[in-house]
Amino acid sequence: MASRATPRRQPSRKGSMADVPKDLLGEIQRLEELFTVDTAKLKAITDHFVSELAKGLSKEGGSIPMNPTWCMGYPTGHEQGTFLALDMGGTNLRVCEINLPEEVGEFDIIQSKYRMPEELKTGTGEELWGYVADCLQQFIEYHHEGENLDNLPLGFTFSYPATQEYINHGVLQRWTKGFDISGVEGEDVVPQFEAALKERGLPIKLTALINDTTGTLIASNYTDQEMRIGCIFGTGCNAAYMEHCGEVGKLAHMNLDPDQEIAINCEWGAFDNEHQVLPRTPYDVIIDKDSPRPGQQTFEKMIAGLYLGELFRLVLVDLHSKADVKIFEGQDISKLQKPYSLDASVLSDIENDPYENLQETHDAFKSHLSIECTKPELELIRRLTELIGTRSARLSACGVAAICKKKGYKTAHVGADGSVFNKYPHFKARGAQALKEILDWEKDREGKRLGRGHDPVEILPAEDGSGVGAALIAALTLKRVQEGNVVGVRNPDGMLHGVPKAKS
Ligand code: BGC
Repeated sequence: MASRATPRRQPSRKGSMADVPKDLLGEIQRLEELFTVDTAKLKAITDHFVSELAKGLSKEGGSIPMNPTWCMGYPTGHEQGTFLALDMGGTNLRVCEINLPEEVGEFDIIQSKYRMPEELKTGTGEELWGYVADCLQQFIEYHHEGENLDNLPLGFTFSYPATQEYINHGVLQRWTKGFDISGVEGEDVVPQFEAALKERGLPIKLTALINDTTGTLIASNYTDQEMRIGCIFGTGCNAAYMEHCGEVGKLAHMNLDPDQEIAINCEWGAFDNEHQVLPRTPYDVIIDKDSPRPGQQTFEKMIAGLYLGELFRLVLVDLHSKADVKIFEGQDISKLQKPYSLDASVLSDIENDPYENLQETHDAFKSHLSIECTKPELELIRRLTELIGTRSARLSACGVAAICKKKGYKTAHVGADGSVFNKYPHFKARGAQALKEILDWEKDREGKRLGRGHDPVEILPAEDGSGVGAALIAALTLKRVQEGNVVGVRNPDGMLHGVPKAKS
């Protein structure tokens, strides 16, 4: 592209602010103050996080739900069988069939994706379950035409906070990620889902209802036994880890073996719903106020993919409304005024713009928003994306550091998945830098980390939690039932009906 400006060589844009007029420069400084989270603040947030994790496990509870999942321990690598997995994450619906063969840590998978129609997110429970069951039916008809099937075991990844008295039970605490479907909150989702399966005569038996983070933890640990935490940094954000039953005060009445491990779905998106420690900006306040569930998911609303584009949009609209700030002067910004019109990929593209003069950003604003940006405006836009993206990564690291501190992990692998983790530029490096600041890692004179030559706690790409993880948890559950360990399983005999006995 001959007419293009020269690609930048340096990642830093220092110096490029030389021509930025005073009003915009002042705003950039103000935004830097609002969105920057320094080391001391990261540490304060992490400390508060540690105590909130413990509070969530206690009988009294706290704002982080810390949901016991009845997934009791890590896989051995010897799990076997064929399982269906259904993933209802937010954007897409995915159906998989997973085969866990004899070989340790191996798996085969076939899968189909279906789009979640936007209108379902604000419809009724009946419409939702009908659609989900239709997708399962299509999958079965396509892959098993004419076969005589019975009670195929299913791991259902339902990535919303649910109270589980059993692994095949789950009362939706509240919708998150912008969902607002009537008739489901406060209800056990399993019978609703099963009724839709029954109506269609589908040969499927729900074995385990799981969270995407629990699936991520288990799938990642299946292939790397150093994996201790499963995280999702995507449309929403959350983590799961293994806890000893003895630490879970709210399960004390069940007299479980205190050394038995149980996966806890933290639901850490709800961290600091009391607004004690997170440095919320006026823009975070607006996001919360205008969301379907104000007061909920304070942490998630500052860092997750669903909200990054909206934060960016709100800042730009605010700047445009200020009489003393000259930005997009005399231009029609009506497209930018539409709530949730920009998603996180817009910020990714801006941070990835390789041109010194931010040509791609200029062109994107022109084509998508009909706004012609000046060079100084582009500089502000770029800085703003860096600030929002960096804050997201640094705050995310606080959650990971808090679990490590709570568990006393000096070293660990953390399996992470989700669009922000996988696609947002520099998210991994920024998160690693923040972990280093929070956990005070020392370096030797050559700059190597003491002890291992790499970061003691590393956040790494996870295995497929809602596919392989869901299948593994279903396999672990069936095996447990066969062995007569039916704690946290509703109607255990019914679960095994028609299922060939797993090899031990
Ligand atoms: C949900 C969690 C989920 C996370 C990531 C949050 O909004 O409450 O259950 O794990 O998103 O998908």
